[in-house]
Amino acid sequence: MATRKIVKIGSEKLRKISKPVVEFDEELGLLLDDMKTTMVERRGVGIAGVQVGVLRRVIVIELEEGKYLEVINPEILKTKGKVKRNEGCLSVPGFYTDVERPKYVKIKAYDRHGKEFEFEAEDFIARCVCHEIDHLNGVLFVDYTDEGKNYKTELGVE
Ligand code: NI
Repeated sequence: MATRKIVKIGSEKLRKISKPVVEFDEELGLLLDDMKTTMVERRGVGIAGVQVGVLRRVIVIELEEGKYLEVINPEILKTKGKVKRNEGCLSVPGFYTDVERPKYVKIKAYDRHGKEFEFEAEDFIARCVCHEIDHLNGVLFVDYTDEGKNYKTELGVE
């Protein structure tokens, strides 16, 4: 397992749409292991493939200390409610802003072996799931708020 370099805001890569995983092979397993290692080392709670430079629809989320969820090719089936909370991102170091997200989310996805599963989450984990799925679609949390938009302007990035 290796730590990979985090792609930071300003890189065009973060704005690209990631492609679905088609082969559930050893390389995918390695990628997921490296993503987890990288996330833990950087004290993140979620990470998407694009953040380590791989434009595939893969996510790792920390559910609790030492317990991780691997999410491949996720699809949102249902959301409920709205909650506004402070949010950050490994690709946007040192910046935080309050973002409105669903209180509840239900997704369908695949594990590293290609087995389909459904997953429901509320509050903090639901927020993580939505934030990471955004990454797969080239969206960053700074896009949602005036504070975030001002920050992008300050940095001179899109
Ligand atoms: Ni992020």
